[in-house]
Amino acid sequence: MQGRVFMAVVFLLYAASMAIAGVPGDGERLAETCTGCHGTKGASPGNYIPVIGGQHAGYLKKSLVEYRDGLRPGGVMANLAKGYSDGQIDDISKAVASWKWKNSPIKSAFKGKKLAVETESCVACHGKKGEGSADTPRITGQSPGYLKVVLQEFSDGKRKSPEMELIKGVAATELDKLVIFYTRK
Ligand code: HEC
Ligand code: HEC
Repeated sequence: MQGRVFMAVVFLLYAASMAIAGVPGDGERLAETCTGCHGTKGASPGNYIPVIGGQHAGYLKKSLVEYRDGLRPGGVMANLAKGYSDGQIDDISKAVASWKWKNSPIKSAFKGKKLAVETESCVACHGKKGEGSADTPRITGQSPGYLKVVLQEFSDGKRKSPEMELIKGVAATELDKLVIFYTRK
């Protein structure tokens, strides 16, 4: 008898903790919405839609919060992110980060050969292979069209990041070379 009471209490505690923490896998369910545009498991097949599957959770979270709060330019994403609470953004970010990163299948259409901007400076933060970490995004294998758009935004000062100040005012032709470097096959 006492065993049964104990089991019932354990079950109630479990149910209560689930109600507080949210249903496990809720992030996966919420992240289903994302795959319509970002591709299955976030492996975007498009030139202008970024790969998000396997991106670092901290960076995904920061991006979604900044879109939602109007701190990062973004049409579709700015509207979409407004619908989520901090907790939901956390869950979605964890789910999307747990998917496996797949390099964009798009071959960069930008012309140019040699890098003029030192990638040494990029390595310091984005890592030797552009793999990123925590709040610093992975950039290797990202969709080329998207990469160019965001580098141009940093250059023009439209997208703001203290860490990316170094790209401010860099010419478009130099940005193309960076895109080629990070998306070369
Ligand atoms: C209607 C299409 C659409 C949907 C649905 C959508 N996205 Fe996006 N997303 C975009 C586009 C287009 C961009 C790039 C341009 C921009 O910033 O608006 C983008 C950019 C992003 C970025 C920035 C990536 C980076 O490397 O900085 C993140 C993160 C992101 N989306 C996450 C999500 C998540 C998570 C969901 C689901 C909750 C989602 N998106 C749903 C179209 C979409
Ligand atoms: C001091 C650290 C630092 C350096 C140096 C740096 N980055 Fe970044 N980079 C960041 C951080 C942090 C972010 C995320 C900014 C944000 O949250 O909007 C970022 C964002 C980016 C993005 C946007 C990625 C996306 O998915 O939207 C690109 C592209 C990028 N960096 C390329 C470069 C290149 C190319 C270089 C070298 C020329 C470079 N970065 C140098 C820290 C750095």
